[in-house]
Amino acid sequence: MPNDQVVVITGASRGMGAAAATWLAGVGVKVALLARSEHALTQLTASIEAAGGAALPLVVDVADGSACLEAAAKVRHHFNRIDALINNAGVLEPLAPVSAVDTGAWRRNIEVNLIGPVAMTRAVLPDLKKQQGRVINVSSGAAVRPIKAWSAYCAAKAALNHFTRVLAAEEPRVTAVAVRPGVVDTQMQAVIRRQGPGMMAADMVAYFTQLKADDKLIPAHLPARSLAWLALHAPAALSGEFVEHTDPQIFQPALDYFGDNFKPLLSTDF
Ligand SMILES: NC(=O)c1ccc[n+]([C@@H]2O[C@H](COP(=O)([O-])OP(=O)(O)OC[C@H]3O[C@@H](n4cnc5c(N)ncnc54)[C@H](OP(=O)(O)O)[C@@H]3O)[C@@H](O)[C@H]2O)c1
Repeated sequence: MPNDQVVVITGASRGMGAAAATWLAGVGVKVALLARSEHALTQLTASIEAAGGAALPLVVDVADGSACLEAAAKVRHHFNRIDALINNAGVLEPLAPVSAVDTGAWRRNIEVNLIGPVAMTRAVLPDLKKQQGRVINVSSGAAVRPIKAWSAYCAAKAALNHFTRVLAAEEPRVTAVAVRPGVVDTQMQAVIRRQGPGMMAADMVAYFTQLKADDKLIPAHLPARSLAWLALHAPAALSGEFVEHTDPQIFQPALDYFGDNFKPLLSTDF
């Protein structure tokens, strides 16, 4: 299916980022895949190309501002345009109460979850303005709900939401939306089950562990479909908003557009 659009996706080596790339490539969108895991990016690129799509793998640590600028230049050079950015790369750690947390680890979390999206947005903003494009920031319920032992993550996601609002106010030609994906069956949940006990409140660890045991975590391809749809079609009226991936303005049109038949291209897809 021909589609001229180009979407840059950070954190595309697994989980929701890889799934969003898979949905987009499936409708002919050209995707730039950014993360640190070269092998997974190469594998996903090969699978997309084997299915007739176009992908550009770029090994980037989003905390590195100059690497973000270089990546944007490579995408521009390779595909000639950039229509949307999905700021999806994220880390949960450190898991520790404020009284005990390592401030270096705290800073690193902010660099990945907040400075990374800012740097990537800045790097592609001229292209997005030209195309009247979109920035989709993958946020979290932790942005609005305090979770003990997650202070860096909560603060980063809260700031990401407000960054989204300011970006929307500053850039009328760009639609910027922050999305809450729910509790999703990815490696980030495995981090909670592995590192949470003894650090997080016991009831929260039990809650997340039970969701996994009951097979109630959301499969990554569902919120990823909402992210992919927003990257192509986010309504201007949503600019600056923090929305649920299940919002009827998003979930149903995403289902109508992409369908329900997700075929994972990576062995690490959940
Ligand atoms: N899973 C949930 O329940 C949940 C809930 C709410 C929000 N979220 C958000 O959803 C987004 C995607 O997470 P996920 O659940 O799909 O987790 P995941 O499977 O752990 O994926 C995280 C992705 O981010 C990439 N990444 C991490 N640090 C990076 C860095 N410094 N530079 C570039 N890429 C980096 C990882 O790739 P590399 O390791 O290869 O770099 C990976 O592709 C995150 O923003 C997360 O905060 C998740």
